[in-house]
Amino acid sequence: MAISQLEFNQLNRVLDEQTGIRLNASKADIMASRLSSRLRANACATHNQYYQLITSPVGKKELDIFIDKMTTHETYFFREQVQFEFLYEYFRGKQSRRVPIKAWSAASSTGEEAYSIAMVLDDLFYGRNWSVTGTDISPTAVEMAKEACFAMSTSQKIPKKYRRAYCLKGIDQNEGTFTVNKAIKSHCTFYVDNLLRLKKVDYSFDIIFLRNVLIYFDEIKQKAIIDNIVHRLNHGGLLFLGHSESLRKKRQGLELIQPCIYKKVRL
Ligand SMILES: C[S@@+](CC[C@H](N)C(=O)[O-])C[C@H]1O[C@@H](n2cnc3c(N)ncnc32)[C@H](O)[C@@H]1O
Repeated sequence: MAISQLEFNQLNRVLDEQTGIRLNASKADIMASRLSSRLRANACATHNQYYQLITSPVGKKELDIFIDKMTTHETYFFREQVQFEFLYEYFRGKQSRRVPIKAWSAASSTGEEAYSIAMVLDDLFYGRNWSVTGTDISPTAVEMAKEACFAMSTSQKIPKKYRRAYCLKGIDQNEGTFTVNKAIKSHCTFYVDNLLRLKKVDYSFDIIFLRNVLIYFDEIKQKAIIDNIVHRLNHGGLLFLGHSESLRKKRQGLELIQPCIYKKVRL
């Protein structure tokens, strides 16, 4: 179904209010195509009717689905593997350091990034106090992260020793999938939270992964997100960005120690 300029603006405003993401006018067709099944499912004859639905009190659930449809969730285990190797090597020399170690996968999507961090931390700090928090704006993605049921084909990206140690093959109705074991799951917690208005995450971390999400925001919002993140990073803690997302401007208090990896230093 075609979308008018007015309808695109209405829905784009809702997206901006909810996520901070504002689509360029050239994305109108993409919006219409991502929403076509939702219009059908809700018997909406026009995008305006759909807009009325998601902005009404009865449309709260559909609003969650709208957010999910309009955000990009691409992710996979050990994405940019070199960063996980760096994480391992960096903390290997510090295994005697104080615990707990707290890590945050900010924009965790369906959980692959958080569980990848968890496998590395368990390898490093087995039996000790470490945790991984995953947050994402999409309630659907957060539910999938909690469930941790992944297609078997995606396990190929997990280093063999971790696959053997932490992954469990699904059987019967879970044939063709795998999950991570209880030891890993018990260290991981997932919440819905908005990087621009964090409510759940009000503590600080030693490790933060903020990858492949800044690209969706304008410069002002990127700065607001980075401020929120740096505020929650302990001194000496590490910030990992996606490979196309290095900080454009030098930032006081953050020292670049590897491409796209920063350490928080005292001023
Ligand atoms: C492309 S995925 C990145 C996943 C993972 N970090 C990675 O690099 O593989 C981007 C994620 O950012 C989430 N996101 C978008 N806007 C957000 C916001 N304002 N607050 C929190 N998460 C957001 C999306 O829902 C999506 O799951």
